[in-house]
Amino acid sequence: MRVNVEIQGDPMGKPKIFVTRPIPGNALSELKAHFDVELRETESIISKEEIIAGVKGKDGLLCILTDPVDAEVMDANKNLKIISNYGVGYDKVDVEAATKRGIIVTNTPGALTETTADLAVGMMIAAARRIVESDKFTRECKFEGWGPSMMLGIDVYGKTLGIVGLGRIGKAVAQRAAKGFSMKIIYNDPKVQADFDAEYGAKWVELDTLMKESDFISIHVPLTPKTRKMFGEKQFHMMKKTAVLVNTSRGAVVDQTALGKALKTHRIYAAALDVYEDEPRSPVELIPLPNVILLPHIGSASLETRAAMANLAVKSLMDYFKGATPENVVNKDVLNKK
Ligand code: GLV
Repeated sequence: MRVNVEIQGDPMGKPKIFVTRPIPGNALSELKAHFDVELRETESIISKEEIIAGVKGKDGLLCILTDPVDAEVMDANKNLKIISNYGVGYDKVDVEAATKRGIIVTNTPGALTETTADLAVGMMIAAARRIVESDKFTRECKFEGWGPSMMLGIDVYGKTLGIVGLGRIGKAVAQRAAKGFSMKIIYNDPKVQADFDAEYGAKWVELDTLMKESDFISIHVPLTPKTRKMFGEKQFHMMKKTAVLVNTSRGAVVDQTALGKALKTHRIYAAALDVYEDEPRSPVELIPLPNVILLPHIGSASLETRAAMANLAVKSLMDYFKGATPENVVNKDVLNKK
């Protein structure tokens, strides 16, 4: 990223920014060139107390998607003007509290769409074809020759994929599935998306219908009070016994205990999860189960994408202090207050 900006005059000097974690790419150098930056150099998870201490006297905060940024953090510094969230999901930021206080919240959508969609499709195939289990089997020297009944999985090609949440990432997964794997796409979303339907032969359905008819279900909803535990025992009971659940969104949209039960009793075929109900707590109830793939929240974890996310997060701060409206404001209401 090259930004040639005059950061708006602050009689006290350059705007002060607190960055909670090192982020990949060159964006932080760019930030340091224009701002007075305090970077918390460690990779460990930050506590709320540390965030409170860090934001004291700062004009902006660059946090990562797991940092708890609530009203208490905001009230620790009446001068805080902008929270730039490194990540598309911003459920750890109390956006309502920010809006009330006139603080802008931004995120980094777009940059990670394709990378996360790649992973979701990879997880779908890995679960269906038992790739992780087969790798373990081979490493354990159990492979003693080709066998007609060895490590049988299920096909992906030509099956029905149910997408829950047809936003950027949901669409990118559906595109890959429809064009790459000739899958039939059904989806549930707050709105019917006729253009998308026409291009990919997709069809909007009620959530219950999606649960019943899909061979694969890929979740792409944000975590909100409405979506919390949206997938529980009732939903798993509706699924085909041969169906696979993939979650790359937020863990808390799935009732993890109920999922564990559904997997253990083979009520459903398999699951592949990148996110957990209570991160960073390990999903201990799922660990012994061979029919679930467990990844450590790596949806956007490619070198290119993490650097692109850093550019976006920094650009929001640059734009704001230049006097422009950042592109990815999530609480647009706050703009009308200014
Ligand atoms: C990843 O989970 C993100 O929200 O960017």
